[in-house]
Amino acid sequence: MCGIVGFTGNKNAVPIILTGLKRLEYRGYDSAGLSILQNNKLTTIKQEGKIKNLENAINNNSLESFLGIGHTRWATHGEPNNANAHPHESNDRSLSLVHNGIIENYDSLKKMLMSKGFIFHSDTDTEVLANLIQFNYKGDLKEALIVSLKSVVGAYGIAVVHKNHPGIIVCARFGSPLVIGVGEGENYVASDPAAFIDQTNNIIYLADGEISVVSANSIDTYNIDSESVDKEISELSMSLEEIEKGGYEHFMLKEIHEQPKTIMDAIRGRLIASEGISHLGGIDNVVGRILWSRDISITACGTSWHAALIGQYLIESFVNKPVKVDYASEFRYRHSLVNPESVVMVISQSGETADTLAALKLAKEKGALTIGIVNAVGSTIARETDAGVYVHAGPEIGVASTKAFTSQVSVLALIALKLGRMLGTISLEDGQRKVRALNNLQSNVKRILENEGLIKEIAFKYKDHRNFLYLGRGFQFPVALEGALKLKEISYIHAEGYPAAEMKHGPIALIDENMPVVVIATQDKTYDKIMSNIQEVRARKGSVIAIANEGDENIKNFADYVFYIPKTEEFIQPILSVIPLQLLSYYIAVYRGCNVDQPRNLAKSVTVE
Ligand code: M6R
Repeated sequence: MCGIVGFTGNKNAVPIILTGLKRLEYRGYDSAGLSILQNNKLTTIKQEGKIKNLENAINNNSLESFLGIGHTRWATHGEPNNANAHPHESNDRSLSLVHNGIIENYDSLKKMLMSKGFIFHSDTDTEVLANLIQFNYKGDLKEALIVSLKSVVGAYGIAVVHKNHPGIIVCARFGSPLVIGVGEGENYVASDPAAFIDQTNNIIYLADGEISVVSANSIDTYNIDSESVDKEISELSMSLEEIEKGGYEHFMLKEIHEQPKTIMDAIRGRLIASEGISHLGGIDNVVGRILWSRDISITACGTSWHAALIGQYLIESFVNKPVKVDYASEFRYRHSLVNPESVVMVISQSGETADTLAALKLAKEKGALTIGIVNAVGSTIARETDAGVYVHAGPEIGVASTKAFTSQVSVLALIALKLGRMLGTISLEDGQRKVRALNNLQSNVKRILENEGLIKEIAFKYKDHRNFLYLGRGFQFPVALEGALKLKEISYIHAEGYPAAEMKHGPIALIDENMPVVVIATQDKTYDKIMSNIQEVRARKGSVIAIANEGDENIKNFADYVFYIPKTEEFIQPILSVIPLQLLSYYIAVYRGCNVDQPRNLAKSVTVE
C-alpha cells in the first residue's frame, strides 16, 4: 500500500531512492515519483506506471542531490495518473510530501484550504496534507507538521522535505509503517527496511504518533505534543539475497521453492521429540492464560485468514477448546464478546495489515490476551501483541502469499501441540508421532516440488478456462479456499473454494464441461465422501484435477489428472496439499501472460482499511 523512501547524506540521493523504490514496488505499482532539493529548489518528477517509467523520465534530466524522497503508489483516492502520483508539492512549491495511508477528513480540510485561496491539482487526499503544512508553516517544519497532523483524521506514514531546510527530512507515522535506517553520516526513511537493507541493518521503528527530524548526522524524535522521545536502535537480520529473485523468474516461484527451508525455519529448535511437545519461548509466559482462557479467537485477512481456519481445526482437535475465526475487518465491527478472559490470536505475514491491526487494538482495549503469529520481524503487529511466535519465513515479496502460509500453519500446529500436550488432551505417544510428522515435512515438500512438470502440463491444459471450483473437506477446506484465492489474484480467473459437501447445495449448478474442479482428496476420514463428490462432478461432465495421496491408484479412474503428494498425519496434510495449488496458479498466470508478482489492483501490504 504505497512505498516511501527518503535519503539524506553525502551521496547522490537519486539512485538510492530509485533502488529503494524498486525494492518496495511490491507495495504498489500504479505510479511513482521523487522530489529532490537542488540549489534550494525542489525538483519533482513523477510518472504513471512502474518505477521503470520513472527511471526513463529521470534519465532525460541531470538530477543530483544529497536529499530526496520517493514514492511508489497503490491508488486509494484518484486514479493512477501523473497528477495523482506522489510526491505532492504545496501550492507555493516550498515543500514536497510523500504519504502512505488515507486522510479520512481530507474533504473538509480541502474546503477550508480552498476558502483560503489554495488550488488543487490532483484528486488525492495527500495534496491536502502538503497544502495544510504550507498553511501552518511559520519557519519550523516539524512544528508545521505537528500542527497539521493534529487536525488530520486517518492513517499516515509521511515524509516531507522543504526548500528552507536543505539537509532535513521530517517524517511521521500513525497507522502506516515507517522506519528509519541509521547509517554513518547518512540516514534513510522508508516504509520497509528492505528499501535500504544493503546500506544498513540498524533500524529505528517509529511508533504511532511519533515525528522524527532526520538529517545526515542526527535523528530526533518527538511525540505529537513536541516532547522529545528516546528511541532504541534495533539490529535487523535481513539480507539482500533474501529480497532478490536468486535466479528465479518471479519472486512467487522463488518463494514456493523456498518452502522446504522456510517450513523448517518455522519449526527448527522448537520441537522436543522425546516429550512429543513444542517449545515456543514467545508464549511461555502466557501459556497458562491461554489454557485457562474462556474462549480463543483467531483473526486475520486473506491467506492469513485461511491459515487461521486451519488453526481452528488444529486447536479444537488438539486442545478440545472452542475456537472462533473472524475476518479482521468483521471482528471489529460486530458485537464482539471478547473480554479479559479471552485470547485473541492475530495472524499476519506483513504485520502491518490495517484491518488486522485495528482488530488487535480492539482486542487489547477489551482486555484480551493478544498473541501474534507474524512473519515480518519488528512489524507493528509483532510489537503491539502481548506475546507471539514469529513464523520466520523471511521476506515475502510476491504479492500472492505462499511460503508465509505454510509457515503460519506450521506454527499453529506447534501452538496446538504445545497446548494439547500441556493439557493432556494429546498423549505422549501421539505427541511423539506428531513431532515425527513435523520433522518429515521438509523432505515431503521437496518430493512435491520435484513433480512440478505435471503441474505445468495441467496449467497449460486449463489456462483458458474462465471459472474454477476448488473443493476440500475438514483440514483441506481452507486449502480449497487458498487455492481459489491464489488463482483469482494472479491469473484473474474466477475461482471459488467450497467445502466439498456444500457443492450439492448450490455450486453444482455451475458444473458443465467447461468447469474444472480441483478436488483435494487426501486419505482422511472424509475420503469416501469426497470420492462421491468427484463422481457428482463427473456425472455433470466437469473435469477433475485431484490432489491425492501417493498409493491411491483408484482415484485415477475418476479424475482427468491426479497430482500425488506424500501421505502424512492429517493435521499437517494441508501444508503439503497447498503446494501444487500454489504452483498451478503460478503456471496458469505465467501462461496467460499475467504479471505474477505484481497483479493488477493489488499490493502486498494492505495498510488502509
Ligand atoms: O500481511 P497479511 O498476512 O496480514 O496480509 C493479509 C492479506 O492481505 C494477504 O494474505 C493477501 O490476501 C494476499 N495477497 C494473499 O495472497
